[in-house]
Amino acid sequence: MATAVIENMKIFHTVSGMRDMLRVERLAGKQIGFVPTMGNLHEGHLQLVRLATESCDVVVASIFVNPLQFGLNEDWEKYPRTFDDDVRMLEGAGCNHLLYPDENEIYPNGMADQTRVVVPTMTDILCGASRPGHFEGVTTVVSKLLNIVQPDRAIFGIKDFQQLAVIRRMVEDLCIPVDIIGAEIARDHDGLALSSRNGYLTEEERCRVKILYETLCWCREEIVNGRRDFTLLEESTIQKIEKGGFRIDYVSIRNAKSLEPAAHDDRDITVLGAMYATGARLIDNVSLNLSPDSELSATAGE
Ligand code: PAF
Repeated sequence: MATAVIENMKIFHTVSGMRDMLRVERLAGKQIGFVPTMGNLHEGHLQLVRLATESCDVVVASIFVNPLQFGLNEDWEKYPRTFDDDVRMLEGAGCNHLLYPDENEIYPNGMADQTRVVVPTMTDILCGASRPGHFEGVTTVVSKLLNIVQPDRAIFGIKDFQQLAVIRRMVEDLCIPVDIIGAEIARDHDGLALSSRNGYLTEEERCRVKILYETLCWCREEIVNGRRDFTLLEESTIQKIEKGGFRIDYVSIRNAKSLEPAAHDDRDITVLGAMYATGARLIDNVSLNLSPDSELSATAGE
């Protein structure tokens, strides 16, 4: 069992080592919470860990920069690996066990021959349209990680709204016995959603990228105030972001559960956006609830 113990957190490099430990925890009746990550951790990840500690006895995190979810021209190679800092942060946030496998441990038969998990249709749109194969890589690795850890609860950030919806669908369709919990978006002082990729921004761009969140909030406000011409509203939102000097991937007003384009009488709506800065593609989203019994309002948090 390849294991290191750093203060109170155990680090496992192998699936079997992790499983042996978790068998003991499970037999002792412990509730297990799981936070999968690709490392380069920030406050947003730590909030996921803290959330897990609130409802679980044992918290497991994983760090694995999953090559299967990166496109050929994407940033897998330059994705920041900050293991020592990550370990300190995880431990400080209350994580008990860390799974830190290498590529052979996760893909022992090679990536090309790896059995894949595919959630159809809802992965072809939005981020899936501009990152073909990305969600197949995510669902494949997340299903493996869920099988390795077999947690009672797994926590994912709402910032990756489509990823969360896709994982929820996968878990439902494959009857995976885990509760999927969505955690609110952690934001910087100016509203920018925290992301490992924010580190790719130039200083000058960093001052301007808050436009994505500000403009999505403006769009949400327009809907709250009664606008239902969603296509025109998406276009105006895009124009505002483009005027701010950024190239748009998409802005889209969607049904929060199905991710279908929002209908005029939908109650739970999410406005999603993705734009390109020079060194990074940034995503964000804001949600609103239009139930007649609730005030017309933005959903708390997001
Ligand atoms: O959101 C992420 O960091 C990754 O997509 C995940 C869920 C850890 C799978 O590699």
